Amino acid sequence: MTRTLAALMTLLATGIAGAAEPKVEIVGHRGASFDAPENTVAAIKLAWEQKADASEFDIYLTKDGKLVVIHDATTKRTAGTDLKVADSTLKELRELDAGKWKGAKWAGEKLPTLDEMLATVPDGKRVFIEVKCGPEAVPEMDRVIKASKLKPEQTCVIAFNADVIAATKRACPDLQSLWLVSLSGKKPKTAEELIAKAKEIKADGLDLSATPAVLDAAFGKKVKDAGLKLYVWTVDDVELAKKMIAAGAESITTNKPGWLREQLAK
Ligand code: G3P
Ligand code: CA
Repeated sequence: MTRTLAALMTLLATGIAGAAEPKVEIVGHRGASFDAPENTVAAIKLAWEQKADASEFDIYLTKDGKLVVIHDATTKRTAGTDLKVADSTLKELRELDAGKWKGAKWAGEKLPTLDEMLATVPDGKRVFIEVKCGPEAVPEMDRVIKASKLKPEQTCVIAFNADVIAATKRACPDLQSLWLVSLSGKKPKTAEELIAKAKEIKADGLDLSATPAVLDAAFGKKVKDAGLKLYVWTVDDVELAKKMIAAGAESITTNKPGWLREQLAK
């Protein structure tokens, strides 16, 4: 084989490898929640099977001070019975079925605890823990994360409530924490306003709604130039994902992690 031919083959191989591995981090939203019941152990395990780099899920504090994984403040939508999580004990919540609403094959899935979700995380993968209640959840979250097998870089905390991010950074400054903001309202905050608030609460970055009318390359550059990370949610459309990557997103949360990775590799 001539040297020129060998160089050409290396170039082709690199190109193919590059195409097969999108540089952006792909994060399962509530697990692989298009295919499995959101925020369950089955959904997060499916996200790992679908080769997600990370998986997001939501947590609330129960009446007896435990952290349970659920998106809504009540159990009605995903478990049928209408219990307010903050007014229920973990034992009461664990009696519910959080899988069968998605299909008979998922019947028997429980509302998971935070430690059960962390126990599923393979080496080299990470989780996004979204705190849906207030800063009162932070001490127990910190305890459970520290008691888990995970390295600090395998957990990331996200929250819309800026006080939660500030409390997380005070309790565990080494834990990556990003402030969640929706840009989809009538008067979205400017990049400058978001950067100022993110700095005030010592956030490591912004986790923004994928709103291309607002989040363009100029917006993304301001965030990055301020030394902040830029992540986006929730993207199930490949063209939108490409726009967000062009705007500077380093991490994309999606309900379909396996599918999105395949589409971006084309
Ligand atoms: O990843 C952030 C995203 O999960 C925020 O929205 O309502 O799905 O929790 P939501
Ligand atoms: Ca969430």
